[in-house]
Amino acid sequence: MSETKYRYGIIGTGIPWREEGSSGFGMANAHYPNMMKNGRAELVAISELLDARAERFQATHGTDVPNYHSYTEMLAEESLDIVSICTWPHLHAEMTIAAANAGVKAIYCEKPMAISWGDCKKMKAAADENGVILCFNHQRRHIKLFQEVRRAVQDGEIGDLVQIEAECGNMYDWGTHWLDMMFFYNNDDPAEWVIGQINSQTENKIFGAIMEDQAVLNFKWRNGVRGYMATGDLAKIGAVHRLIGKEGVIEVLNERSYRILGKGIGEWKHIEVPQGDWSDLALAANDVVRALDEPGYKPLISADNAIQSTEVIFATYRSSQIHGRVDLPLAYEGNGYLDLVNAGVIGPDTK
Ligand SMILES: NC(=O)c1ccc[n+]([C@@H]2O[C@H](COP(=O)([O-])OP(=O)(O)OC[C@H]3O[C@@H](n4cnc5c(N)ncnc54)[C@H](O)[C@@H]3O)[C@@H](O)[C@H]2O)c1
Repeated sequence: MSETKYRYGIIGTGIPWREEGSSGFGMANAHYPNMMKNGRAELVAISELLDARAERFQATHGTDVPNYHSYTEMLAEESLDIVSICTWPHLHAEMTIAAANAGVKAIYCEKPMAISWGDCKKMKAAADENGVILCFNHQRRHIKLFQEVRRAVQDGEIGDLVQIEAECGNMYDWGTHWLDMMFFYNNDDPAEWVIGQINSQTENKIFGAIMEDQAVLNFKWRNGVRGYMATGDLAKIGAVHRLIGKEGVIEVLNERSYRILGKGIGEWKHIEVPQGDWSDLALAANDVVRALDEPGYKPLISADNAIQSTEVIFATYRSSQIHGRVDLPLAYEGNGYLDLVNAGVIGPDTK
């Protein structure tokens, strides 16, 4: 392994969540220390529109690197090996495509992928054409508990998998994590079709993206397993995730504990799974670096995985729009939810 450190840059430093002046979570403040953890990368530049935020980032982390107001200038000047994209979703596509075309070797972009299905495909195509490692921060794939649940399923502890269920506050922003987990549990098998419905009666804007306030979706993977997800304040399935097998059930209660009623177990068995020294975010950043160090290694948070779960989100929007099942691959490249809002069919103004 070469001792030369990877040249690392960040787009969008932000300010950490709930700190004065913050506009979001300031995810860059998590990307940076976690990217430094394995000692293989060094920060050489940042790009943040607002000087006060850039200065605060540097003061917090003890760095003194150039801040570029223009991220394209940073990409042109700094010969970056790795770039973190920590801006809001409507900017992910243009930034990812620019980074891929500028010769960056690995892109670590925040979730959700983008605001239209067409943009998601263009991002992945730009990375593939340029031989770039493209990752999305579905870092929960690195939570030990979820990995343990996946192993239990693979080892047949609940028999053949029949259905995976999940609930959360929304489908587009948080749901991108949970759909990604559903694919993770099911070995990243491709999905075949999606049927879904969305509701939108309130202004639901997260990280600049407007989204549905309730969704229900049902989908089928090629291996026959079904997916069911309910989102919004009214969603209740009695667990965070539920995996139903022919001979048992696993219920994920939170990110550190699950319970299983499996083969040969007479009553629910509760299992705690500690995370260990490295957080999921640290392991995710390490995954990006590992893909550079070990050619051929595919990160758990690879775009190949993210694009499959993201397709289900946009297929649900499309299904709601056309009042029917959507067969994959998804042909419609827009955002069916935004189409419906723009047409005044759903949305806060249609109450
Ligand atoms: N993976 C997770 O668990 C997780 C958690 C929270 C947020 N996120 C995601 O992280 C992303 C960023 O959210 P955040 O809360 O960190 O945002 P934020 O508002 O805290 O920070 C974004 C920063 O980007 C800057 N910016 C905007 N346009 C820019 C440009 N053209 N050039 C340079 N900088 C620019 C803004 O000034 C702002 O400081 C979102 O997509 C969000 O969904 C992920």
